[in-house]
Amino acid sequence: MNIIGIIASPRKEGNTAWTVNKILEGAKEQGAETQGWYFSDLDIKPCRSCNGCKKGDRGCIMGDDIQKLYSAIEHADALVLGSPVYMGQMSAPTK
Ligand SMILES: Cc1cc2nc3c(=O)[nH]c(=O)nc-3n(C[C@H](O)[C@H](O)[C@H](O)COP(=O)(O)O)c2cc1C
Repeated sequence: MNIIGIIASPRKEGNTAWTVNKILEGAKEQGAETQGWYFSDLDIKPCRSCNGCKKGDRGCIMGDDIQKLYSAIEHADALVLGSPVYMGQMSAPTK
């Protein structure tokens, strides 16, 4: 089983990273292959409302690091998405 963890906090050593990494560690101990993705290492741009995603089959066309994440998600059996709570909601990059 291939499990990916997405740490959608700007703080690499914060609570979100700790929590997601604990889950991945547990999964690894049970024999899963795991991979952690830190948003702080990725350049993911906000939507420009260009509608490019509606014209093809590869999602967003901006050519940022979301393509790497699409590929990892496609090959994952399970996804752990960790976000800090900002103003009562998940963070903007997580959305
Ligand atoms: C701008 C900002 C807004 C926050 N809003 C909330 C909130 O509405 N509710 C809450 O329980 N915690 C809130 N927090 C606290 C964070 O969710 C909490 O510290 C979290 O552990 C941060 O995750 P991190 O350690 O991965 O950065 C807020 C923190 C920040 C910086």
